[in-house]
Amino acid sequence: MKKIAVLVSGGGTNLQALIDAQERGEIHGGKITLVVASKPDAYALERAKAHGIPTQVVARRDYADVAAYTKAMTAVLQNAGADLVVYAGFMTILDEQIVKAFPYRMMNVHPSLIPAFCGKGFYGLRVHEEVLRRGVKLTGATVHFVTEVCDGGPIIAQKSVAVENNDTPELLQKRVMEQAEWVILPQAVSLFCEGRITVKNERAYIDDNK
Ligand code: GAR
Repeated sequence: MKKIAVLVSGGGTNLQALIDAQERGEIHGGKITLVVASKPDAYALERAKAHGIPTQVVARRDYADVAAYTKAMTAVLQNAGADLVVYAGFMTILDEQIVKAFPYRMMNVHPSLIPAFCGKGFYGLRVHEEVLRRGVKLTGATVHFVTEVCDGGPIIAQKSVAVENNDTPELLQKRVMEQAEWVILPQAVSLFCEGRITVKNERAYIDDNK
């Protein structure tokens, strides 16, 4: 059984989608064993506690810089014996130390179809504001491996969502979560835990034959 650690910063609806999938028996070969928050008041912590999942807070404000924070976070995840680290609405920057410690063993969910509307400065509601400003007709969500390049790692799963005329950033964010993020994140986590994802030449391939 692979040990899954989930990193959170806020509301934790993606964490909830993972917990719900786990309780439905849809995370094959893995179990959420730890939830780590970058803020002590992250509501995601309550969601974990309500389901008996151990939690820890590694608060960004307790560390002088990104390097010290990354070192502390890496140590927590290594001590927990994490096989997979999932960034589920984790909004705090970590440096390459953690990528070296968990190569192709960390995944992130991003609320757009990468490589559109991603990279530095594109997070949370801001992504959807830009999508509406640019007027694209299709958006969606992406799950990808975390590498040194912000939102640039191998893509594991994507799902599109149509933009509607009367969308606001908030409405669009909600629809992208419901129709895409909460669907593909548990799927990607399960595929990883089943050993069905391989990375070759910086591309991720899903084994459909298991
Ligand atoms: C989600 O939409 C997630 O994709 C996004 O923040 C939201 C967190 O919601 N993440 C990013 O923008 C990362 N670049 P949640 O806390 O309810 O899961």
